Amino acid sequence: MADFKPRYTPGEVKEEEIVRIPDMKGNVKEVMEVEGMIVPVQAIKSGHIPDMRENVKKIRDMKCRDDDIFLCAYMRSGTHWVWEITNMLTTGKLEYLTRPKETAMMEFNYPEDFDKIPSRRTLNTHLPLRLLPKEVKEKKLKVIFVQRNPKDVVVSSYYFLQKSKMMPFQGTFEEFLMVFSTLGVMVNWFDYTLEAEEALKDKEIDMHLIYYEELKKNPVPAIKSLSEFLGTDCDDEYIAKVAEMCSFKGMKKANEDVKDIGDFKFEKALMQGHYRKGEIGDWKNMMTVAQSEQFDEVFSDRMKNSSFKFAFSK
Ligand code: A3P
Repeated sequence: MADFKPRYTPGEVKEEEIVRIPDMKGNVKEVMEVEGMIVPVQAIKSGHIPDMRENVKKIRDMKCRDDDIFLCAYMRSGTHWVWEITNMLTTGKLEYLTRPKETAMMEFNYPEDFDKIPSRRTLNTHLPLRLLPKEVKEKKLKVIFVQRNPKDVVVSSYYFLQKSKMMPFQGTFEEFLMVFSTLGVMVNWFDYTLEAEEALKDKEIDMHLIYYEELKKNPVPAIKSLSEFLGTDCDDEYIAKVAEMCSFKGMKKANEDVKDIGDFKFEKALMQGHYRKGEIGDWKNMMTVAQSEQFDEVFSDRMKNSSFKFAFSK
């Protein structure tokens, strides 16, 4: 990171704001609480992303355009995939954008950085839904929520964060599973998902749900229904082409050949490793039976009142 200039003024963190969490090996993780999220101190101090303490306030008061779209998902749930699909629907062009998803990611930029993005903008975020701009409700802006089964999310996140400079995780999978089930990454998956479910029931938010597994198994109807929600009015032939271009293979290749990571070079390995396997049920290659059962226990307790349907295998 030393060879790459920070994009923003690095945030100052007072000693009393830091919470130190030791792991089983005696390593200590420094985090701090921001609006109920657990944010690594390094992310604030690095200057590579905006100071989250200031940015959550700016995001809340952000002036939105009437046709803005907000794409929300817990990390590693298929955000890049749906972002590219949405852009092809809104631009009406069968082209991958050269700029990466991170240029439209709310926690990686200040709202004013999005001024240069032409309409119709699809902004994306892993922030809890309560932190979306106030205008999302006021103007009834379109919100897409992507859901993926949490066992695949935890495995995908584990591999992904090993490559991260800003939020590295260097422990074992067993340790990560424990972190994921309790603190989570910035926010616990269960809290995030239940909050999103409430928002989905709340008719004040115009929200469309996409299941990763359904999109994978049957992309054309899932994309068609997204197109109808957005009012993009694309015909079946166009939608079939979008599905093909945004297949795992297509997107992995586009990530190598088309995307210009520009300002996000500080996470080069991360940006290059977005497309790992793109499968349903890969957790079975990673979790032991005991780990899976432990997770099931937490899952059935936390999600007992949820009406979300999760597909854990193909
Ligand atoms: P895996 O690590 O299981 O492969 P996000 O974009 O939210 O960070 O999610 C990343 C996950 O979505 C990764 O999962 C990635 O491979 C998968 N993914 C990305 N594009 C995909 C596509 N076109 N089809 C299926 N999965 C895709």
